[in-house]
Amino acid sequence: MSLSPVVSLSVPELGLPPGFVWGTSTSSYQIEGAANEDGRAPSVWDTLCNMKDAVANGDTGDVACDHYHRYAEDIRIMADLGIQAYRFSIAWPRILPRGRGVAHERGLDFYDRLIDGLLAAGIEPCACLYHWDLPQALQNLGGWVNRDSVGWFADYALLAARRYGDRVKRWATFNEQSVSTLFGFAWGVSPPRSTDRAAYFSAVHHQNLAHGAAIDVLRTAVPNALLGVVHNRQIVYPQRHDSAHQAAVDPMDAHWNNIFPDPQILGFYPEAVVDAIEPFLRAGDLSRICRPLDWFGLNHYGPLWARVDPACALGFQMGAAPDAMRHSDIGWAVEPEAFKLELLRTYRRYKLPIYVTENGCGSDKEIADETGFVDDRHRIAFLQDYLAAMAEAVAEGADVRGYYVWSLLDNFEWGAGYAHRFGIVRVDFTSQKRTPKASAQWYADVIKAHRGE
Ligand code: FCB
Repeated sequence: MSLSPVVSLSVPELGLPPGFVWGTSTSSYQIEGAANEDGRAPSVWDTLCNMKDAVANGDTGDVACDHYHRYAEDIRIMADLGIQAYRFSIAWPRILPRGRGVAHERGLDFYDRLIDGLLAAGIEPCACLYHWDLPQALQNLGGWVNRDSVGWFADYALLAARRYGDRVKRWATFNEQSVSTLFGFAWGVSPPRSTDRAAYFSAVHHQNLAHGAAIDVLRTAVPNALLGVVHNRQIVYPQRHDSAHQAAVDPMDAHWNNIFPDPQILGFYPEAVVDAIEPFLRAGDLSRICRPLDWFGLNHYGPLWARVDPACALGFQMGAAPDAMRHSDIGWAVEPEAFKLELLRTYRRYKLPIYVTENGCGSDKEIADETGFVDDRHRIAFLQDYLAAMAEAVAEGADVRGYYVWSLLDNFEWGAGYAHRFGIVRVDFTSQKRTPKASAQWYADVIKAHRGE
C-alpha cells in the first residue's frame, strides 16, 4: 500500500498540553558545508565521503546547504514559520580541529553567531554535542575504541559548555548512538566501517562513559541546564515469521533500542549484552554512565525488521519493510501506531519527559515547480498521521513536551547523499535557494493553531 491518496490539509485538533514546543532539527555535517574553512579539520564523515562508492553519487558534505554562510537566512525562515525551538549539532572538528588541545576561535565564533541569532529571533537553541562527525584526528588515535575517547569528549563538552552555556540551556550529549555504532562498528557501513565484534562493544561502552562524563561536565558548567540525550527507538519485527528470524528480534531490540539508554538511565546493560561488555567494564563504570537526566530525546520514523545473519559480527542484520506495508518514497515503513506505542513504551521504561527530537518523511521523488515550490502532500499526510498518533500517546499518559520535525532543510542524507530529501524547506543545491514546501506552511499552521492564534 502506498501513502493515502486523500490528504486533508486541515490542521489537526491535537489537544496537546499548553507549553508544548514545536521545533525543527538538523545536524552539522548534514547542513553546514564550509568543510575546509576557518580552520575546520576533517571528520570521519569527510574521510568516508572521499572513499570510492561509499556515498551515493559521490556526494560529500563539503558544501551541503552552505548553512555556515547562510545561517541567518535559515533562522529567518524558521522565525517566519513560527518555529519555537531548533536542535542543531556542534561540529567537534570545527571548534577543536584536532579533537583535543587548542580550540579554534573562528569555529567557536560560528556557533556564537548562530545561537545569538536564534535567541534574537525568539527560537530556543538545543545543542547536541555529537551527531556522528568525530574528528578524524581522534579516529587516527583509535576513536571510540580507545578508552581515552571518554576524556576527549568530556574536554570538548567542557569547552562548549563554558562558551555557550550562558545562552544555551538545553543540551543533548549524543544523537542516535545505536545507529552510529551498529552501522559503524558492526555492519561496516558508516565510519569507521568496522565489522569487528570487540571494536563494536568497546565503542558502545566508551560512548556510554563519554555520555556520563559529559553530563557531569555540563551539570557543573551550565547553571539551570536541561540535559538529555537523543536515542532512536523502534519496535522490531522479524523479517519473516519463522523461528530463525524470530531469534533475531530480541538481540536487535537490545542493541538498537536499549544498549545505550538502559545503562544511561536505568544503570544496567540489557541482559543480552552483559557478557560481551564485561571485558571493557571497570569498577564504578555503571555509576559513571548513569547520571540524572532532565529529558529523553526520541527519534522515530517507523518500525524495524530484523533478520538473522550468521556472517555478521552480531549474528543479525537490519531487514527490509515488507512491500505490502505503507511506506515512504524512499522505502521506509510508515506506521503511526508504532510511534504511539513507542512513545508510551519509552515513557514507561525511562520515566523522563520526552521530546520527539526527530520525525519526518524522506523522498527521492519530489519535483519543484519553476519557483522552487514543492507540493509535498505525502509529507503532510505523514506528519498529520504521526502527530495524531503522538497526541493519542499523550492522552494515554506519555509525557511528551515537544516535537522537532526532521528536517528544516533538505540536506546531506548520509550514505544516500542529496538524493533523499527530508526538508520542509526545499534546497536547490546548485543555487542554494531555499523555498518552503507545502509542508512548511502546514507546519506553521499547526503551530499557530496550537498557540491559539
Ligand atoms: C536519523 C539521523 C538524521 C537523519 C535522519 C533521516 O537517523 O539522526 O541525521 O539522517 O535519520
